[in-house]
Amino acid sequence: MRHFVLLSLLVLVLAGCLPASIDPPPLMTGMAFVPTVIARLATPASLQASTEEMTKGLQIYRAQYCGVCHQLSAAQTTGQFGPSHDGMARTAQNRLLDPRYSGRAATPDEYLAESILKPEAYVVDGYEVSSHHMPSYAHLPGEQIDALVYLLAHQR
Ligand code: HEC
Repeated sequence: MRHFVLLSLLVLVLAGCLPASIDPPPLMTGMAFVPTVIARLATPASLQASTEEMTKGLQIYRAQYCGVCHQLSAAQTTGQFGPSHDGMARTAQNRLLDPRYSGRAATPDEYLAESILKPEAYVVDGYEVSSHHMPSYAHLPGEQIDALVYLLAHQR
């Protein structure tokens, strides 16, 4: 009986660690739930998908030589011709708040996509007279743009 109580407590503690989207177990269902909890904690599907998207983003970032002009620690690049991509999640939010912002994006993801597809929509302060302008990557397939946006949107 004591084991059962301890196990039930364990289940409740584990359930507390789960994202809200996963239904909590009905109280006292006991051991049957434990393996499911452990399996989900080990490889949550959402985490797996996001790691794949991040890896894909990094591959494309490297293949397109973005790092020749941009610094991005995650990709081990140190380019200086454009703004740093470290902390890009916050930077994208700040660009949208800039009174000089001249593009059409409403969200950080849209800002990132716009910067990659239509860089002339808004040129970051200080880079107007650069001799290494940001080229458009509108020729890349949409899913590659999505992966780049995902990568940059997750740089904190
Ligand atoms: C030839 C140099 C060069 C290359 C290569 C380059 N960029 Fe840029 N990038 C720039 C410059 C310069 C700017 C700043 C001017 C501007 O806003 O257009 C910039 C701006 C950006 C911005 C906006 C940054 C900010 O701080 O708001 C993003 C996002 C971006 N680049 C993504 C990329 C991605 C992704 C690649 C590769 C697919 C890439 N860049 C390749 C030069 C480059």
